[in-house]
Amino acid sequence: MVKLAILATLQVFTTVNALTLAGGRVTELHGIPYYIGDVAVSQFLDLSAFSVSNATLSDVDVVPLTVIASNSTSFTGHELNETVSDYIDRDDVFSSAFLNAIYLNYNGNTTPSIDLPSIIPMLRKECNSVFLVSPEYSVRREYNAVNSRIARPLPIGPYFASTKTGEIFKAHRLYADDYNAFLQPAVSDEKGGYLPLSATSESALGNSIAVPSRLYYSMTPEQPLAGLRLGVKDIFHVKGLRTSGGNRAYYSLYEPCNATGSAIQSLLDQGAVLVGKMGTVQFANGDRPTADWVDFHCPFNPRGDGYQDPSGSSTGPGAGMGAYNWLDIAVGSDTGGSMRGPAGAQGLFGNRPSTGAVDLDSVIPLCSGLDTAGVFARSAGLWSRVVHAWYKRFDRGFYTYPRTLWYPEASFTADAINSTEASALIEGFVGQLEGFLATNRTRVNLGASWNGTRPVDAPATLQDLLHYTYGTLISVYQWLHLGVPFFADYADVHAGRTPYINPGPLLRWRLGEASGQAGFDTAWTNKTIFKSWWEGPSGFGARDNQTCSEALYVYPNSVGAVGYRDEYFGSPSPPYWGMSDSNIAVFAGLPDLVVPIGEIPFNSTKSGKTEYLPVTMSLVAARGCDLMLANMVSEMESRGILHAVAVGPRLYP
Ligand SMILES: *[C@@H]1O[C@H](CO)[C@@H](O)[C@H](O)[C@H]1NC(C)=O
Ligand SMILES: *[C@@H]1O[C@H](CO)[C@@H](O)[C@H](O)[C@H]1NC(C)=O
Ligand SMILES: *[C@@H]1O[C@H](CO)[C@@H](O)[C@H](O)[C@H]1NC(C)=O
Ligand SMILES: *[C@@H]1O[C@H](CO)[C@@H](O)[C@H](O)[C@H]1NC(C)=O
Ligand SMILES: *[C@@H]1O[C@H](CO)[C@@H](O)[C@H](O)[C@H]1NC(C)=O
Ligand SMILES: *[C@@H]1O[C@H](CO)[C@@H](O)[C@H](O)[C@H]1NC(C)=O
Ligand SMILES: *[C@@H]1O[C@H](CO)[C@@H](O)[C@H](O)[C@H]1NC(C)=O
Ligand SMILES: *[C@@H]1O[C@H](CO)[C@@H](O)[C@H](O)[C@H]1NC(C)=O
Ligand SMILES: *[C@@H]1O[C@H](CO)[C@@H](O)[C@H](O)[C@H]1NC(C)=O
Ligand SMILES: *[C@@H]1O[C@H](CO)[C@@H](O)[C@H](O)[C@H]1NC(C)=O
Repeated sequence: MVKLAILATLQVFTTVNALTLAGGRVTELHGIPYYIGDVAVSQFLDLSAFSVSNATLSDVDVVPLTVIASNSTSFTGHELNETVSDYIDRDDVFSSAFLNAIYLNYNGNTTPSIDLPSIIPMLRKECNSVFLVSPEYSVRREYNAVNSRIARPLPIGPYFASTKTGEIFKAHRLYADDYNAFLQPAVSDEKGGYLPLSATSESALGNSIAVPSRLYYSMTPEQPLAGLRLGVKDIFHVKGLRTSGGNRAYYSLYEPCNATGSAIQSLLDQGAVLVGKMGTVQFANGDRPTADWVDFHCPFNPRGDGYQDPSGSSTGPGAGMGAYNWLDIAVGSDTGGSMRGPAGAQGLFGNRPSTGAVDLDSVIPLCSGLDTAGVFARSAGLWSRVVHAWYKRFDRGFYTYPRTLWYPEASFTADAINSTEASALIEGFVGQLEGFLATNRTRVNLGASWNGTRPVDAPATLQDLLHYTYGTLISVYQWLHLGVPFFADYADVHAGRTPYINPGPLLRWRLGEASGQAGFDTAWTNKTIFKSWWEGPSGFGARDNQTCSEALYVYPNSVGAVGYRDEYFGSPSPPYWGMSDSNIAVFAGLPDLVVPIGEIPFNSTKSGKTEYLPVTMSLVAARGCDLMLANMVSEMESRGILHAVAVGPRLYP
């Protein structure tokens, strides 16, 4: 589809060239770019309204319109004034430019009236051209007020109306994607699917994101996520859009998807508003910025100097949530840390859920059985609301919390954290957590516990059991279940050619090919040995009737370490080899939630100034206790132990 530049900047009316209808149009009001889709959501049944109106609307193609609902028996200038102020407070899309045309819809049940004399001064001030009112009001041809009806009821808020056809279109504000967080901006087709956005405003990186007015949506028990603007990592298939998986060949080989997978559909059904597909490390596997990101450029981490590694593989969702106030939530995946890495690098609330939290049909797999879908938010309260709506199969009613706090000492040493400022923040947080849980930490030596209580025949160290486990599982699984069929499909239509694969995933697929299914099976056995031990009487992951999880296991996630994105590395990044705290949740299928706790300074060699980077903690609970964690962090936020973070260079500016 054609990308359109800004066509017109007009104070009073917007004229748009009729030849550019397909795919929608871009216009500008008060200096702000807007996207006018070509999918009408309703229609004025009587076009005479536009011709009887005073002004030169007959020369105008599209007019900005505000829909207002009222149940007052008399609609006054005061109510109009209050309504407009409320819209401006609640919405970043609405502006007074939309008062050019107004549609007032009565939703009460008597015969209402309009107090035009009190309204006219405001209409004049706002350069209103036509004041349309629903048939319940009786207006004489006074000023420019006229009765009109629309074909389908509309939510309140800003729209665009065609004066030629009467069609009414949603208003979307266009935001430039300056941090390269998105791969494919999208808009609703109003039929349950999505269309690639065929519009852009000024942006060096090329993409703009169209966000619909917040006024269209209101929260209900069925729609607890109503109006939350959602970005989705581009490994989840969405109806109407192609999936890239961060790979150009994959994007162009397969047709747009004809169905949305159940994980994303569940969020949409509950009211979330998809605004686009977001950047991913290729196939959610392994790419280190910037050299490994050959097919697509790596998104930008807005924190600190803006040139820090944003981590991955849910890179776009993490970067976008750190950068854009107009984005409320973003979904990524975590197989071996792909949510928790970006949550740490960008200082966000972001989780790996218990495996099986949501169904992962219609998602590009890395390793079935380890793959999970998590969500980023900038506050514990919102994160908690989303996971309550999303992870419906877990127990939700836990409002008392674990009384045991496992503290793996080796993870908290000065050497491990390598920053006195970060150590101080972390110690402060653990102290507050002890207070909140009314307990003292229990120091844990994981290696010694394992050695002392491990199953007979299992090796004496967790490293010996698990060093190769994760890397083998993902490499074999993705090669067999994605690489092999993708190579075959591509060869079929490209005369036997091989698709281009970034160096990171390619290295891993080669390892997977060499290990084969037998290697996978051994690794899965090792994983299962660990899981059984962790959940059992000698492990640290027991459940509890009152608190869901008997204990909370905590460890530092990100510690404000500097990692510039322009470093040169000698070779592509191999899969993660080793066994660390972050692998516990992977092997045992547990929830591991990252929470931001503070930020520490560093002297940037890029900006030449002191900048700040996030410090975050991981909270791990027993399997299936995701919603206990949600209740807990939400309560910690309301008690001031956790804090919502801002967008931009600083978490807490
Ligand atoms: C409508 O037009 C008349 C005469 O053309 C003018 O006096 C009046 O001010 C106009 N009203 C508006 C709202 O523009
Ligand atoms: C009118 O609408 C307001 C706000 O939506 C609502 O609180 C009120 O109950 C309604 N009144 C009537 C009479 O329907
Ligand atoms: C509402 O009324 C106040 C007071 O008269 C005025 O200052 C304000 O600009 C009005 N708001 C709008 C949106 O017209
Ligand atoms: C969607 O596409 C798949 C294959 O890509 C096909 O098997 C399926 O029948 C299609 N479903 C619909 C509803 O068109
Ligand atoms: C510790 O931090 C310093 C900078 O504060 C850094 O130069 C060094 O590489 C870090 N060491 C480790 C082991 O991360
Ligand atoms: C925690 O330890 C301190 C000092 O040993 C002790 O006074 C306190 O009672 C302990 N608190 C709990 C909840 O066990
Ligand atoms: C495991 O425990 C045994 C018995 O305490 C001890 O001799 C051995 O050194 C330990 N092994 C490791 C690797 O810690
Ligand atoms: C599985 O565990 C054995 C030790 O029991 C170890 O030698 C082997 O390397 C492990 N393999 C993988 C792939 O995890
Ligand atoms: C937990 O619940 C189970 C099943 O309801 C019950 O059998 C068990 O005794 C309970 N345990 C405790 C410690 O209350
Ligand atoms: C930054 O550099 C200044 C001047 O060299 C030094 O005083 C300060 O401690 C440094 N800050 C950090 C966080 O390293």
